[in-house]
Amino acid sequence: MKKTIVALAGDGIGPEIMQAGLQVLDAVKAHLSFDYDIIEKNFGGAGIDAEGHPLPSATLEACQKADAVLLAAIGSPQYDQAPIRPEQGLLLLRKELGLYANIRPVTIWPALKHLSPLKEERIADVDFVVVRELTGGIYFGEHRLEEEMARDVNEYHVVEIERIMRQAFELAQTRKKKVTSIDKQNVLATSKLWRKIADRVAKDYPEVILEHQLVDSAAMLMITNPARFDVLVTENLFGDILSDEASVLSGTLGVMPSASHGTGASLYEPIHGSAPDIAGMGIANPVSMILSVAMMLRESFGEELVARKIEGAVGASFAAGIVTKDLGGNASTFEAVEAIIKHL
Ligand code: IPM
Ligand code: MG
Repeated sequence: MKKTIVALAGDGIGPEIMQAGLQVLDAVKAHLSFDYDIIEKNFGGAGIDAEGHPLPSATLEACQKADAVLLAAIGSPQYDQAPIRPEQGLLLLRKELGLYANIRPVTIWPALKHLSPLKEERIADVDFVVVRELTGGIYFGEHRLEEEMARDVNEYHVVEIERIMRQAFELAQTRKKKVTSIDKQNVLATSKLWRKIADRVAKDYPEVILEHQLVDSAAMLMITNPARFDVLVTENLFGDILSDEASVLSGTLGVMPSASHGTGASLYEPIHGSAPDIAGMGIANPVSMILSVAMMLRESFGEELVARKIEGAVGASFAAGIVTKDLGGNASTFEAVEAIIKHL
């Protein structure tokens, strides 16, 4: 049966990089064990413009029926005063699709090592994954803003912590078998519960080592010794912050894909934003989107071999020096895609 892939191009550089991702998908089409339809829908600012809401109901319905969702990028300063901002649409989509597990792998591309803000010897063996809880915590608690006070509520339930822990441990089993659980248990009640559940779940995975780190010290270790990590698991807000920190180890935000898994279709997206300053100029780095397509092929459709081929082609075109401006090159988005497809 034909698979359905929903493509949400969104805002800023979103449409350009989505096109790039779909071009690469098309290039490997003949090698896939399945056929697919792409359904394009409005989302984010584009949803506000076309249908008055960042997550129009037709978009949500299409995502609920899809086999996988690709998202490029959302947000733009022009929506800063909008009654419902594009980012709200993303949070709603995560919630509605039950996407509680956000997987953000951090790999160093040999050809890009010189771009890292860290010394080369420090990043040589870096290869870890941030597993971020995505549908709970302070993002989804009460937000109240008054003249003289404001409040954001951080709430976690055992089921929410347990299922994200299991994701982390399952993943660690396929890797270097080490989970670092990150919390702030010297201060926060939610973190005390987090740590307790981490210890409990760890008992079911005796071959995986569990360590705990406080989030402040984890932020420091990520700079001083990032190679020590394998799988990091943490709550929504800490995961947001740490995954941005982690993403620059490779020298650029522009090459980092992510997957979000839940109860239904998974969603794949670059971890960077919509870069409105360079939108429409044809110079955006398409790699994170292309790697998100590879992640989708691997994790939603079991196409390990094709996924690896795409990743290999990305590495080869980096090595050939065909890179966009953000990576110190002068290739356009189109030229970068062409080079990757050529290496395929
Ligand atoms: C991310 C982003 C989002 C988040 C924003 C756009 C709401 O920063 O995916 O990391 O904070 O989760
Ligand atoms: Mg973020």
